[in-house]
Amino acid sequence: MHTTIATRLNHSMSLPQLNNDGTIRHFLGVEGLNRTQLENIIDKAMGYFDKEGRLINTDELVGKTVMNLFFENSTRTRTTFEAAQKRLGANVLNLDIARSSTNKGETLRDTLWNLEAMSADMFVVRHSASGAAHFMASHVTPNVAIINGGDGWHAHPTQAMLDMLTIHRELCLRDNKSFDELSVAIIGDIKHSRVARSNISALTTLGVKDIRVIAPKTLLPKGISRYGVRVFEDIDKGVADVDVIIGLRIQNERIGSPLLPSTSEYFKMYGITDSRVALAKPNALVMHPGPMNRGVEIASSVADGEQSVILKQVNNGIAVRMAVMALAMRGQGK
Ligand code: NCD
Repeated sequence: MHTTIATRLNHSMSLPQLNNDGTIRHFLGVEGLNRTQLENIIDKAMGYFDKEGRLINTDELVGKTVMNLFFENSTRTRTTFEAAQKRLGANVLNLDIARSSTNKGETLRDTLWNLEAMSADMFVVRHSASGAAHFMASHVTPNVAIINGGDGWHAHPTQAMLDMLTIHRELCLRDNKSFDELSVAIIGDIKHSRVARSNISALTTLGVKDIRVIAPKTLLPKGISRYGVRVFEDIDKGVADVDVIIGLRIQNERIGSPLLPSTSEYFKMYGITDSRVALAKPNALVMHPGPMNRGVEIASSVADGEQSVILKQVNNGIAVRMAVMALAMRGQGK
């Protein structure tokens, strides 16, 4: 049955990422989730691998309709969300946003309400506007879940959780270490990166005490040290003895601008090269959310090297997205 506008507006007044008992209802950001909640997501994702480390299928979303609303381009995130939905048994609808009514002037709220009328149980949304997923969560019918697939410069919570799962599988389990003991360096365009913001938040909540950000001043947001991170402009000092190096994409449109004089200059100053990886701990992980620019933020030999877990991140993305969607559906009481 359809709810009235009044019910919707009432509902929107209390923004509901979590139920009163702490279970997940929408997945909008990692902020506001505590360590146990993040560990539950990691544990749930671990349950989607069999003994050989291959992904399994379940029936947790059988009979449920999930709509993927990607207002902004994406390859990895959209495809891994879809792979995850299919592994959970959902009916999947991918909206052709390029040709959608939002281009004809329809508001995001009207688009949402029309799609809800087609019996959606969950929306995965990526949008260039920060706050789009929160906006949708506060206007959606109760019992419909919103999952944030990346909003503006703000948050990319499933990327952060797949990065946490990768660190857990590839480092904590391998070396019997806990997050509390790790040093993590994030290198690149921190200022415009929703991945950096969500990762800093997830790492902090999971207990990482040594988080370093490495970037030229022009690519660092003001007041970044308030988040409890250490700022390095010198990459060699920044990567010294870290357990994890996370590279971020340099948006090509920023190259040649006053923010970044040239590609070769950037690579010389901040590129993740073999000699820089050698300054980190032996067997340190090299990560990148993709898409990566080889020869700009990372050397090809590092991207394809033994310490790179970049393709494992992609595979872990399916498990984490399965976990988050299954938990949200359960948290909606479905
Ligand atoms: C990131 C994104 O879109 O925020 N990529 C991704 O989701 N795999 C990072 C980026 O675009 O640089």
